[in-house]
Amino acid sequence: MKTYRLYINGEFVSPQSDSTIDVIDPSTTDVIARVPNAGAADVDRAAKAARVAFDAGPWKDATAQDRGRVLFRLAEIVRDRADELAELETRNSGKPIAESEFDIADVATCFEYYGGLATKIHGEVLPVPDNAMSLALREPIGVAGQIIPWNYPLMMAAWKLAPAICAGCTTVLKPAEQTPITVLELASSFADAGLPPGVVNIVTGAGETAGAALVEHADVDKIAFTGSVEVGKIVMRGAASTLKKISLELGGKSPNVFFADADFEAAVDGALFGVFINQGEVCSAGSRILVQRPIYKKFVDAMVDKARKIKLGPGMERDTKMGPLVSREQFDRVRRYQEIGKQEAKIACGGGRAAGGALDRGFFIEPTIFYDVDNSFRIAREEIFGPVACVIPFDHEEDALTIANDTYYGLAAAVWTRDIFRAMRAVKNLHAGIVWVNHMQPTYVEAPWGGYKQSGIGRELGTWGVEEYLNVKQVFINLSEQPIGWY
Ligand code: NAI
Ligand code: MG
Repeated sequence: MKTYRLYINGEFVSPQSDSTIDVIDPSTTDVIARVPNAGAADVDRAAKAARVAFDAGPWKDATAQDRGRVLFRLAEIVRDRADELAELETRNSGKPIAESEFDIADVATCFEYYGGLATKIHGEVLPVPDNAMSLALREPIGVAGQIIPWNYPLMMAAWKLAPAICAGCTTVLKPAEQTPITVLELASSFADAGLPPGVVNIVTGAGETAGAALVEHADVDKIAFTGSVEVGKIVMRGAASTLKKISLELGGKSPNVFFADADFEAAVDGALFGVFINQGEVCSAGSRILVQRPIYKKFVDAMVDKARKIKLGPGMERDTKMGPLVSREQFDRVRRYQEIGKQEAKIACGGGRAAGGALDRGFFIEPTIFYDVDNSFRIAREEIFGPVACVIPFDHEEDALTIANDTYYGLAAAVWTRDIFRAMRAVKNLHAGIVWVNHMQPTYVEAPWGGYKQSGIGRELGTWGVEEYLNVKQVFINLSEQPIGWY
């Protein structure tokens, strides 16, 4: 079993205290690694290293080409180490190995995309009326504090690190307590990628201590956070103490809307994929499945038929289609919602812990489908973050859109229909940052990701993602040699 250290100022260092966090394999609950439970003093050390790297260089003097090359090298290293990283990701997060392989490929793509973007960030010249030149320059914000969750551990790290490096920021990243090891492993390659000391620092620890210390640290200029709405609000309050820039990517209760004219088989597939992929531990999970009455009964039956065949097991077994939930805490949370759902709605399948054989050792949950769900039920309003689907019937298009928008979240939504006019009406009227038509979940580094309403602030990915790490500096250059002559 490996014991990790913090990665600060280009080296692995011991934390101030001996306190550690056990990292488990959720398919067996075995402890597979230990990481430091960093405190405020460790966060301070990392933030100061990031501050110096930003203010004094060599990062300050790195050119856009230099930063791009670092990101391309990181992409290459991730590809070289893909098998090892995918296996670690599965052992730690529980997800099926095929899903980890997709994630790691996306990690490389993300570094590559921002590697290309580094040399395309530029300012503008503005046509002001006087004999002057007006410029808008784009500059890196400074030191970024980055806090990420456990559902896509290395991918979330890449979504944070890549645009920050691209922009010329330095960072302190705090992975989730549950899943800190892939990014620590990747850190051993940072120097090979050409990252100077202090540019990227990795500090493991609890949210309430290490996370909060990062949010409040005076040397940190910006916080990028992905996680729960509840903690998002805490982060926003904490960032107010020094008025940091913030970007928040929070949860969702995303509607997946099926009209009767949709291709039936594709629709049923899309409903299951939308809510059960990654064990349902997805911020954009299509957890509210709205189905039009004429196909409602048949749709629920078809979903159940397929859901019952989903192969659960340890993620390292190739035929596994659903792994365990990430932690005891998440397992207990989803079990509670299963019980709440049984009180509120009708259950079509699942509803408990998945048991038998290897499943007895880990945090396995049965894929669960509730139907005849009313949108006012708790299971339809609160984010469950597990393999629990709520099927809600509707009659008319207007009803569907009203129900879909009746949530304080607004991350994602999907609509399935063959009618292009109806699809476009839905696109226009759904209050969500991401709308899919005849699909759910595809995510591309080129396209913006983020939420309306309480699902967040700001956007990740694409050119939008890097803007969150840039300041705009207005420059006025007087071209007239005459005195102002006002007084
Ligand atoms: P969380 O929001 O508590 O944790 C996410 C990250 O925030 C972790 O790195 C954690 O250490 C950090 N954190 C926690 N408290 C903090 C604080 N006071 N200051 C600074 N950082 C802090 O999420 P948790 O407890 O793991 O899961 C609870 C629920 O949150 C899930 O069931 C799910 O509904 C939602 N969630 C949503 C995610 C998303 O992708 N939008 C990801 C993870 C969880
Ligand atoms: Mg929490």
